[in-house]
Amino acid sequence: MTDVERQAALDAIGAEVAACTRCRLHEGRTRAVPGEGTAATEAVFVGEGPGFNEDRQGRPFVGQAGSLLDELLASVLWSREEVFITNVVKCRPPGNRDPEPDEIAACAPYLTRQLEVLDPALVVTLGRFSMARFSPGARIGQVHGTFRAADAGSGAPKAMTFAMYHPAAALHQGSLKQTLFTDMQGVPAALTEARALRAADQAAGEAPATIAPVPSPVAPELLAVTPDPEAAPEAVREAVPDTTAEAGVEFDPTAQLGLF
Ligand code: URA
Ligand code: SF4
Repeated sequence: MTDVERQAALDAIGAEVAACTRCRLHEGRTRAVPGEGTAATEAVFVGEGPGFNEDRQGRPFVGQAGSLLDELLASVLWSREEVFITNVVKCRPPGNRDPEPDEIAACAPYLTRQLEVLDPALVVTLGRFSMARFSPGARIGQVHGTFRAADAGSGAPKAMTFAMYHPAAALHQGSLKQTLFTDMQGVPAALTEARALRAADQAAGEAPATIAPVPSPVAPELLAVTPDPEAAPEAVREAVPDTTAEAGVEFDPTAQLGLF
């Protein structure tokens, strides 16, 4: 799937969510909040459900918890434009109460489909309800800041998942703020690891014949005049366009997003 096709698929899901009446949460909503970000990302952040501001704006994490999420992303030189941010339920539970099991179940197919489209390497869960989907049975106090394979039933069977406390929890319990920032420092490394595991899986699972031949970016005559065969890989590397420079992004390459 190309990024344009991914975005179109996400938009189609978003349009369905906006008109959805599958559970009682549609009754009190101002706007549904399907989620937002880039279709070209490797990392998806999943919260619990829209709050007051999100319900008004139709966008995820735009209130106080959202500001904290922005800060957390910035602390590892990421931004919300480089990831995809969504929630377990897409409509605001009245008075910000916890979502009910039947509401979570009714809304689950939307998140499953979003994950199928995005096929992320890493899912960062924000809070217990999101964690329960990707790491059933885990306890947030024990697993926050760590990562594991995402549960096969989560919709992202090829992803790793990294658990974090919900940013809103830190607004009520100040001591959690430092924990959130400390845990966030582990996210880029988790992505790097998730990416490596996925590459290894792919290499193991695919017969060489299914891999399309990659055209050499180096002209054959150039290789022919190279006296030292060791020098050829260097030439190849130099001939590959530097997408980092192209995008004008300057940060730790291990934290670089969006490049599959
Ligand atoms: N809390 C959430 O879980 N999600 C949002 O989108 C905003 C606040
Ligand atoms: Fe539909 Fe999900 Fe909103 Fe319920 S919370 S009405 S299932 S979009």
